Amino acid sequence: MLSIEANKNLIALNTLAFNAIAEHFTCISCEADLLKALQYAQAHKLGYQVLSGGSNVLVDEFIPGLTLHMQMLGREVLEQCDQQVLLRISAGENWHQLVQWSVENNWQGIETMALIPGLVGASPVQNIGAYGAELKDVLVQVRAWDCQRKEFVELDNSQCQFAYRDSVFKRSKGRYIITSVDLRLHKQQAVTFKYQALKDYLHNQSLAKITLKDVFQAVCAIRSDKLPDPLKVSNAGSFFKNPIISPSQFQQLQKDFPKIVGHPSACAGVKLAAGWLIDHCGWKGYLESGVGVYPKQALVLIHTGESSIGQLMQLADDIKQSVFDKFSVQLEIEPQRFPATG
Ligand code: EPU
Repeated sequence: MLSIEANKNLIALNTLAFNAIAEHFTCISCEADLLKALQYAQAHKLGYQVLSGGSNVLVDEFIPGLTLHMQMLGREVLEQCDQQVLLRISAGENWHQLVQWSVENNWQGIETMALIPGLVGASPVQNIGAYGAELKDVLVQVRAWDCQRKEFVELDNSQCQFAYRDSVFKRSKGRYIITSVDLRLHKQQAVTFKYQALKDYLHNQSLAKITLKDVFQAVCAIRSDKLPDPLKVSNAGSFFKNPIISPSQFQQLQKDFPKIVGHPSACAGVKLAAGWLIDHCGWKGYLESGVGVYPKQALVLIHTGESSIGQLMQLADDIKQSVFDKFSVQLEIEPQRFPATG
């Protein structure tokens, strides 16, 4: 039986911990629930939106219509051979617990994405990534309800149109409701890690042989050192994307700022470290009226509990403006407005 709550406060369901009243709210624990909820919304002429782990959203103070909170659970091994395993993971599973499970089983491919907050169903939306790996490298297909065609569909990796922190799910806002993802992980591949901070950390451990578990533990240590735990300090992870600029603009910037941090990106541009830009505008550690910039990582905005989303957005605008004034680089906000705008 579907239970619908009225005027539900989502403060505990968004990691920035802003007050947000959902006009109608229900939890979805299976595909049948989802269909019932959509029928309910249609019968009562309500709009609807899907809330996953709430770790990458900027919630409005009032959320009209029906909010569907995804809680579908299940981890299944679909196929395996000596080299690979194919997994089907339901949308409501916790991402970090999935990573832990894969490492316990010695399945390789997502270990550097440890401690990314949120649920599996949201992972394809912004193609989550960390320390040189992205979801798109292991994702086989996504199962979703297509709100346009009004049927369940399976999208393979190329149909998901993955790019840096982007996908078809992000671009066609509201069209798909993801119910499960299939991932292919490896059993016997040599452990690799491309990211310098990870290499340095593991090198300093002087291990005879580096295992998946070592990589997982290293990522957990590095992340917990510089990124705040949302249960202790309210935040939504990286607040801005790392901007991609042309090589010529990068060369120009290097003349004025020799220490600027940039790496070649897949699309012939240079990906700048937004954290470095914000840091060099002097924002690190800023805190006023309950919103601020995390002292250990300038890319993370925080909320200390007595402020409003409007004040956080004002701070984000001020940061964007100062970065533009100093470096002529436009920052783009990474978390999604909830409900989606435009
Ligand atoms: N930097 C500074 N000052 C800062 C922050 C960073 O100078 O306050 C410099 C660092 O010295 C470093 C560079 O900027 O040289 C890059 O910083 P970092 O290695 O911390 O990575 P990032 O680019 O800031 C990205 C992802 C993270 C992911 C890390 C590790 C984005 C928007 N963010 O951060 O993702 O964990 O790389 O791979 O791509 C997330 O999305 O929530 C997230 C944490």
